[in-house]
Amino acid sequence: MPSSGSFPATRMRRVRATSWRRRLVRETVLTADDLIQPLFVVEGSGVRQDVASLPGVARLSIDNAVTFAKEAQALGIPALALFPVIDSALKNDQGSEAVNPKNLLCRAVAAIKKAVPDVGIICDVALDPYTVHGHDGLFIDDDVANDATVEVLVKQALVLAEAGCDIVAPSDMMDGRIGAIRRALEDKKFVNTMILSYAVKYASAFYGPFRDAVGSKGALGAKGKHTYQMDAANTGEALREAALDVAEGADIVMVKPGMPYLDVIAAVKAHVNVPVFAYQVSGEYAMLSLAAANGAFDRDAAFRESLLAFKRAGASAILTYAAMDIARTLTGKV
Ligand code: PBG
Repeated sequence: MPSSGSFPATRMRRVRATSWRRRLVRETVLTADDLIQPLFVVEGSGVRQDVASLPGVARLSIDNAVTFAKEAQALGIPALALFPVIDSALKNDQGSEAVNPKNLLCRAVAAIKKAVPDVGIICDVALDPYTVHGHDGLFIDDDVANDATVEVLVKQALVLAEAGCDIVAPSDMMDGRIGAIRRALEDKKFVNTMILSYAVKYASAFYGPFRDAVGSKGALGAKGKHTYQMDAANTGEALREAALDVAEGADIVMVKPGMPYLDVIAAVKAHVNVPVFAYQVSGEYAMLSLAAANGAFDRDAAFRESLLAFKRAGASAILTYAAMDIARTLTGKV
C-alpha cells in the first residue's frame, strides 16, 4: 500500500462525488446576509428610470425606493447603499446641496427608515453627486483641496446621521476624514452611527457606469481622480490606508473595486482587525451582465461564483448591484 497522501490512498474526487459530500466539506458559503444592494434615488414620484449602462438597474423615486427596500427586507438583504441623482440645477462648485438637511438623500433615508426600520441604510460621504465638476471634494487651484473638503464632509456626515442613516461611508479618499467624522459624530451623540470607510479605493476605469447613473461624469479631465484615489499598482499603500482608518475610528473598511482586487481584499483582511467589505462596482456588474446577455454564460451562476470568490478572499459583505437577484436564487436553493 502506498503511503497516505499519494494515489490511490488519496483520491481527491472522493469528496466531490455527490452533492451531500460537497456540501459537508465546503469551506465558504454565500448567503443573503453577505449582500448589500446599492440603490439610486431620484426626485419625483412613481419614477423608475432604467440606467442604460447597468442592465436591470433603475433610478427610483422615494416612493418606489421604499417598496424596493421592503422587497430587500423580504429577501433577507441586511442593508442598502443609497446614492442620490441630483438635479443639475442644484449642483455647484462647492457641492453645497450635500449639506442641506432636506436634500433628496436625507428625505430618502428618513422615508425608508420609517417604513422599513430593520434594513440598514448606508450613505456615501463625498461631494461628487453634488458638484458640477464631478470631483469628490472642493476643487481649488487645479486639485481637490484636502482639509477644506474634510470640513464639508463632516457636515455632510452629520446631516445624514440626523436623517437616520445607520452607516456613513466616506468614499472620497481625503486624508484625515475618518477621525474628523468620528469626533463630530461623538460630539453630537451619534454614538451608534457606524463608519464604513472606503479606505482602499483605487482610481478605476470600472466606475464608468456609476458615473453615468448618478450623472457625476462632470468635467473630470484626463487627470481624473488620480490625485486622491489610489494607484492600481499598490498593495502596501492599501495596508497603510486601512490601518490609518481603523486607528481613526472606522468600524469597517472597504476595498473597491472588487474582482480585479481580490488579492488586496485578502491582504487587508490579514492586516486589520475589523470586518472588510468589498464593492463589486458598476463596471464589474456591467461586464458580467452584458456577457451573460450575449450568451457567454449563465448570469446567476456567474454572479454567484464571483460573489463566493469575494467571501473566499475574506470579505464579510459585498456591495453588488445583483444583490437582490442573487438573494432570490439563494433562497430558491438552486
Ligand atoms: C463616489 C463613488 C463612486 C462609486 C461609489 N461612490 C465613483 C467614483 O469615485 O467616481 C463607484 C461605484 C460603482 O462604480 O459602482 N465617490
